[in-house]
Amino acid sequence: MSILMPSAEVPTIDVSPLFGDDAEAKSSVAQEINKACRGSGFFYASNHGVDVQLLQDVVNEFHRNMTDQEKYDLAIHAYNKNNPHVRNGYYMASKGKKAVESFCYLNPSFGDDHPMIKSGTPMHEVNIWPDETRHARFRPFCEKHYREMFRLSTGIMRGIALALGKPEDFFAAALAEADTLSSVSLIRYPYLEDYPPVKTGADGTKLSFEDHLDVSMITVLYQTQVQNLQVETVDGWQDLPTSEENFLVNCGTYMGHITNDYFPAPNHRVKFVNAERLSLPFFLNAGHHSVIEPFVPEGAAEKVKNRPMSYGEYLQHGLRALIVKNGQT
Ligand SMILES: [Fe+2]
Repeated sequence: MSILMPSAEVPTIDVSPLFGDDAEAKSSVAQEINKACRGSGFFYASNHGVDVQLLQDVVNEFHRNMTDQEKYDLAIHAYNKNNPHVRNGYYMASKGKKAVESFCYLNPSFGDDHPMIKSGTPMHEVNIWPDETRHARFRPFCEKHYREMFRLSTGIMRGIALALGKPEDFFAAALAEADTLSSVSLIRYPYLEDYPPVKTGADGTKLSFEDHLDVSMITVLYQTQVQNLQVETVDGWQDLPTSEENFLVNCGTYMGHITNDYFPAPNHRVKFVNAERLSLPFFLNAGHHSVIEPFVPEGAAEKVKNRPMSYGEYLQHGLRALIVKNGQT
């Protein structure tokens, strides 16, 4: 049995005004975002326009239909030395050792003729996909899903910009659709009669993924309605509520870096739950060359403490450090 934890304060915010032109409505969304990002660090985005039922259907179908050979053929370099990709590909489960498996893909604008692909810049990869005759709707769905999540996330960033006392298009240049290092992970946690060993947190809680800060601008997540996430608050670890319809949003450490921790990345972890479920995050990242000058948001008195850092440098170091700390996913 899991220990009953108090539930964290996670407001549900209707983000649809961020896609319209009612300035007053946008500013009231921004105030709600400000409160959430200064509070538990999490909020649910409602009225987002993404079909979450179709999303789950396609991802379940994908995981069900992939053979072990197909998974291996697509596996990232850590699992398959023939594949040079370190981000895009399959992250394999291993019987008796590791239960979680996932498929990660990047910006579909990265083709062979993209300048960053041509120059071989780290973190940029042309997505590889499973056989398109066997998995006919997977690739078209995923590419469309990326664009929908990008649209939703950049809309949320307009609200975040306003919440920080900036013009709503403050992040637009750093978030050019053709160039961002954003990614989608399609994570499956299986139900298993004989579950491999799991980690235990300092407080004795069994964990599927230890405490961490996200490496992203923001993370926008849809999950099956099985409670598993916890956030660290001043009152200790608290359960995050689930939602059947909405996307859970939190800041990554780049946001903390540029805002002097006015919007810090919340520390969170994944409890071990033996249940078949999906976890489907979109990690909004900026472009490789983007540098957002750290600043002190309106109303805060302290001095800027961080140096300007390009997003490519941030992401490469951040992802590597996360693997060292929490292990290969
Ligand atoms: Fe996370």
